Order: sequence, then C-alpha cells, then structure tokens
Amino acid sequence: MLLKDKTVIVTGGNSGIGEAIVLAAAAEGANIVIDYVAHPEETSSLIARVEEAGGKAVGLEADISSLAGLQALVQKAVEAFGSLDVLVNNAGIETRTSVLETSEEQYQKVLDINLKSAFFGTQLAAKQFILQGRGGVILNISSVHEDWPMPGNTAYCVSKGGMRMLTRTAGVELGEHGIRVLNLCPGAVETPINASTMADAGKLKSLNAAIPLGRMAKPEEIARMAVVLASNTSAYVTSTSVFVDGGIMQGSVGL
Ligand code: BGC
Repeated sequence: MLLKDKTVIVTGGNSGIGEAIVLAAAAEGANIVIDYVAHPEETSSLIARVEEAGGKAVGLEADISSLAGLQALVQKAVEAFGSLDVLVNNAGIETRTSVLETSEEQYQKVLDINLKSAFFGTQLAAKQFILQGRGGVILNISSVHEDWPMPGNTAYCVSKGGMRMLTRTAGVELGEHGIRVLNLCPGAVETPINASTMADAGKLKSLNAAIPLGRMAKPEEIARMAVVLASNTSAYVTSTSVFVDGGIMQGSVGL
C-alpha cells in the first residue's frame, strides 16, 4: 500500500477530483480528513464508502480561504489520527469571466479560495511537519492553466499561475526539512466544474477534438497520480509540476 498509515487532508474533498483522491488515498491505506463547505450528506456518504472498503475517514466543515479554517483542519488531523503527513490543496473555483468582465468580488473570491488557501495551507502544514520532524508532502491541485491561457477565465489563470510559483518557491524553502511541494496539473476532467461544457454537445465535441487523447479525464485518473506523488514512490520529486492532461497543452492544429 502506497500510503499506509499516512494521514492526508483533502480540501474540497467531497466532490470532483477531491472525492476521487479521498477514495484512492484511502484504498492505499491512508487516514483521511475530508474538508468541505457544502453538502454534508455527500461527505457522510463518502465516509461510509471509505469505511465499507476498510479505510478510515473523518469530515470537517471548514472554509479554507481563512487561516482559522486551515488551522482547524490540521488540528482535526492530529486529534483524529495523531499526526499529519500529506496536505492536498484541492479546493478551487472558477468564474469563467474575462479580464473585462471580472468584478472585484469575483477576483477576490477566486484568489482566496484557490491561492490564499494553498499558500497558508502550505505554511500551516509545513509548521506541523517540522514539529513532527519527519518531513511531509504538500500537493497542490493546480491546472494546465498555471502555464497556459484560458481566455474568458482570467482570475482562475492568475490563481493557478500564482500556485505555480508558490510550489517552486516553497519547495526550495522547505526541502531542508524533508518536505516536498508539488503541483498536479489536470487538463479537462469530468467534474462539476466542467458541468456546463459537458451539458453542451457542441462545446464538448470541440473540447474533445482539442485533446490528443480525444476525451476528458475521469477524476480517478487524476487521483491515481495524486497518490503516486504523495507517496515515497516520488521521494525525489519536488518544486515542480506534473501534468496529467491527455496532451491538451501540446495540441496543435498542424499548420
Ligand atoms: C478548468 C476547466 C477547463 C480545463 C481545461 C481546468 O483547469 O477548470 O474549466 O475545461 O482546465 O482547459
């Protein structure tokens, strides 16, 4: 088992990629803290699924855009399972608005949920790891859009661009403590964030045509890589980004 007895926090853990990471990490022996802000019933049924499969998970309703929420999650991990080994900064939103359309409120919300949470989550998890004295992993769920424009989704791209440099810089700073910091960058995944694209046959067709592998990813395909990156299989990987995107970033019309 790749994550046997490791304690893993997954922010935004009760839907989409977060939910898939919860299930995949639990199946590899991890104890999970599921963070959520809505749909407590989804969290309860996810915990039941983990337990039925012989795993351990607890839930905590916490707003990760505040330091208090992040601190509560770290405390929950320590209280429930004795320590913390992996923080997955997964929670994220997008507004699908251009630079001309985005309001101050939209900008602030996207940056707080996507980037501020990852920054201070990294800080608080790293402090806990240093206290424990045996390293740890911070895995940021970024996006191809940390490095690749998505016109019409500017604040989201700004947040993921910031995450790119958070990982590179914090990874360098924290390496001496045995802490690895990594970005996992999905392309288009079958999750609620892409519901409007999936509901529109024309949009879905052109999205699939732009992906060399010809289809969107299943959340489980992202979660599998998350488990590998969080585990000792990746012990020498840090301060960088790993793309799991079906080749979308390299897509070319062949001019
Ligand atoms: C965005 C999606 C988009 C995908 C591929 C993701 O990061 O959240 O809206 O479809 O990237 O471009």
